[in-house]
Amino acid sequence: MTGDIWQFAYIIAALSIIGSIKWLSSPVTARRGVLAGQGGMLLAVIGTLLRHEVINYEWVLICFFVGAAIGAPLAYLMPMTAVPQLTALSHAFGSLAAALVGTAEYYRYVGAGHAATGFTMTALVVETILGYLTCTASIMAFGKLQELVPTRPITYRGQNVVNLVLLAVAIALGVWMIVEPTPFWVFPAFTGLSLLFGVLLIIPIGGGDMPTVIALLNSYAGAACAAMGFALGNRLLIIAGSLNAASGFILSVIMCNAMNRSFLNVLFGAFGQVQEGTVAQASTRPVRSATAEDAAQIMSGARKVIVVPGYGMAVAQAQHKLRELTDALTRRGVEVEFAIHPVAGRMPGHMNVLLAEADIPYDRLHEMEDINPEFAEADVALVIGANDVVNPAARHDTSSPIYGMPILDVDKAHTVMVIKRSMSPGFAGIDNELYYMDRTLMLFGDAKAFVGEIVKELPAH
Ligand code: TAP
Repeated sequence: MTGDIWQFAYIIAALSIIGSIKWLSSPVTARRGVLAGQGGMLLAVIGTLLRHEVINYEWVLICFFVGAAIGAPLAYLMPMTAVPQLTALSHAFGSLAAALVGTAEYYRYVGAGHAATGFTMTALVVETILGYLTCTASIMAFGKLQELVPTRPITYRGQNVVNLVLLAVAIALGVWMIVEPTPFWVFPAFTGLSLLFGVLLIIPIGGGDMPTVIALLNSYAGAACAAMGFALGNRLLIIAGSLNAASGFILSVIMCNAMNRSFLNVLFGAFGQVQEGTVAQASTRPVRSATAEDAAQIMSGARKVIVVPGYGMAVAQAQHKLRELTDALTRRGVEVEFAIHPVAGRMPGHMNVLLAEADIPYDRLHEMEDINPEFAEADVALVIGANDVVNPAARHDTSSPIYGMPILDVDKAHTVMVIKRSMSPGFAGIDNELYYMDRTLMLFGDAKAFVGEIVKELPAH
């Protein structure tokens, strides 16, 4: 019975991980989802340590301390705005682990002089090719986001052909390994090509587009782990890996739709080029600007204010001041709601995480489809450090790089207020016609400082 305890641990771990994915799909249950995921992983590790195949605990302990010594400071020291690169790095480690297990298994079979079944060899080949290419691709993604390597897309003629030929050769070597015993050089060559393919896959993509690619790499890392589960006959790895692969894939498709990107372009890279050509100069057209005092007067007399946070709120870390403003307006009888665009900020759920950190109630947060009809009846749409996600050009300007991207309909509100530091463009590098509308007031300044000023200027009630 005690010998089978790990099986129970695995079942509960699998259920926790499935529940975790479900709960993570809503901000209301997201904390529970994180706890369930962590608990599931802990049980999976404990279950694995209880298995009789573990013959040496010293090495496990050494690796545990080395891993914790690297992982814990990383998690604590990286700022919120650096979470995309932290995620890329953890995918690199995870996929490298899967690839190394695959390599060890391969040489175990070869060393023992007996061939694995075709099924096991297929799983090993899928595991190692995905593991190694995801590892180097994730390291490149990390380097671009951290600006350690050039963030601009690096392209050359025939790039996609070169990449596809490289991948085809790696796959051909993999198939060779599956169908018959191969000469010594084949596995190292297969490994080298997989590692190289990961690098080449990422270089044509601009640093700013990396979060979408990271969601896709997450999916590849999950698929590598699922394949590892098949190779080792480990059901928990199959369940967790498949969930990871499917959710990462769905997330990247959602992000592509929300950013109006072609999914095939993400798969084959090189869509960063679009960004390069579109960097616009800040316009010199006149705008109406206002002071914090003006904004405070208008908002305190409003019935309904819809706040639209964006990347600038994250940069300024304005969420706590925003909470103060929300409380102050609510006390004055103003209804304050939040409109969340699916790709506001630079990573999925960016705004939700920041607003949750400031304890802004979840029931105030609304997704784009739900809140858009409400802008027409809002007295004020307060845009804080958002730009592209409220740019009306996406609706009608067929020449715009963001044409077709669904946006928040802030221009339908009675008054629009935009807090940003200058007339500089946002991520897409284009001007925003919202700023030149008659009913738009530009509130120039840092988001945190400006929101703080508005709170101070609110008339006593
Ligand atoms: P952006 O369009 O990038 O605009 C952010 C604005 O914030 C800028 O115009 C900037 O103007 C302002 N800003 C920066 N620092 C500020 C500060 N300290 N205080 C006040 N304002 C500040 O942001 P968005 O509207 O959130 O759109 C997100 C963009 O990122 C979209 O194009 C989306 O496709 C892309 N993207 C998103 C994701 C995900 S998953 N969220 C992933 C990749 C790419 P100033 O410089 O004038 O202040």
